[in-house]
Amino acid sequence: MILVTGGAGFIGANFVLDWLAGTDEPVVNLDKLTYAGNLQTLASLDGDKRHVFVQGDIGDGALIDRLLAEHQPRAVVNFAAESHVDRSIHGPEDFIQTNVLGTFRLLEAVRGYWSQLPAERKSAFRFLHVSTDEVYGTLSPTDPAFTEENKYEPNSPYSASKAASDHLVRAWHHTYGLPVLTTNCSNNYGPFHFPEKLIPLMIVNALAGKPLPVYGDGMQVRDWLYVKDHCSAIRRVLEAGRLGETYNVGGWNEKPNIEIVKTVCALLDELQPRADGKAYAEQISYVTDRPGHDRRYAIDARKLERELGWKPAETFETGIRKTVEWYLANQEWVRNVQSGGYRDWVAKQYGDKAKEGTQ
Ligand code: NAD
Ligand code: DAU
Repeated sequence: MILVTGGAGFIGANFVLDWLAGTDEPVVNLDKLTYAGNLQTLASLDGDKRHVFVQGDIGDGALIDRLLAEHQPRAVVNFAAESHVDRSIHGPEDFIQTNVLGTFRLLEAVRGYWSQLPAERKSAFRFLHVSTDEVYGTLSPTDPAFTEENKYEPNSPYSASKAASDHLVRAWHHTYGLPVLTTNCSNNYGPFHFPEKLIPLMIVNALAGKPLPVYGDGMQVRDWLYVKDHCSAIRRVLEAGRLGETYNVGGWNEKPNIEIVKTVCALLDELQPRADGKAYAEQISYVTDRPGHDRRYAIDARKLERELGWKPAETFETGIRKTVEWYLANQEWVRNVQSGGYRDWVAKQYGDKAKEGTQ
């Protein structure tokens, strides 16, 4: 049994789905179901006894104590976080609450549980913290990609809150000996991505005939990784990562934002052409830049490859095609997210049980 937090969000849900597709080891999935949590993403697991969903907060120490005592997991994988940079600029408080205080409370509860495990289970236990490349700050066009040795220089409220959580995880290892692992990943994309983020937003806006808002000059660079490759990296680090180490995860796919948007437009031109025969790229609209916008991120993932033999399975070309195809084939999921209907769906499926905290 493993405990996954934030497993109703984009990466966490992909992780839970992939995990249960590959093994029968059960998952307790603790998620607060913020705006970003969507149980519809996990609908294929309805009735599957290997998946125990619990609605709750990683900051609720008593709940975590209870879940750990009841389910006796051999590992915790912490995805739960506020994840969207723009939201952190407009309202940082939730980011401090969940990413900093929440991680602290989770660490404390896990430490209490881990410290009383019998010796063999204690040494086999793992706490894997899922983090981001944004903690390293921004790169110039000629800087080498981020390695695990780079200094932490977070620039947004989001990245500062994630950096703080990484430091707490590190300190719980050094001070208390908690067996932790941290992964710092670049930008993910793929199925079930909430359409506030660049790639899904461009797909859904393009199809709806709306403008495609590109911040500033569109020449900011991000390093893209297909979400299922991130999930395979986390499984590999969980299995064989060295305790207390951090591992950078990335796909060697640095692209300026405008190129991403044009690629999405070209795929839509091919797969679902506009009724008027015009190109989707005509909808591109340059808008005011994000405050403090980091110019470039790039991940050097050689440590993970060298030590643990991990490599991404998808190239950007194969991954982005799969992603656009997924959104075209899953318009109902998109409509429910956009209308907020995924919340009604949760209520219909789980009724009061969701509020009580257990499925
Ligand atoms: P997401 O916003 O899609 O999902 C976050 C999930 O956490 C949601 O289901 C939400 O309901 C849940 N959650 C939020 N606050 C919670 C709380 N207090 N208690 C319990 N659950 C809570 O985010 P994501 O994109 O899936 O990111 C998952 C993790 O991966 C985050 O830690 C993020 O920092 C990290 N990460 C994301 C990316 C990316 O490109 N999306 C890249 C690198 C790292
Ligand atoms: O690098 C990893 C990070 O990637 C994760 O830690 C974050 O959780 C995740 O949200 C993501 O952060 P970004 O800020 O890079 O992702 P976002 O999709 O918001 O933006 C990607 C780039 O596209 C960024 O340079 C801003 C730009 N952008 C974004 C949106 C939403 C636009 O130009 N227009 C937009 O409408």
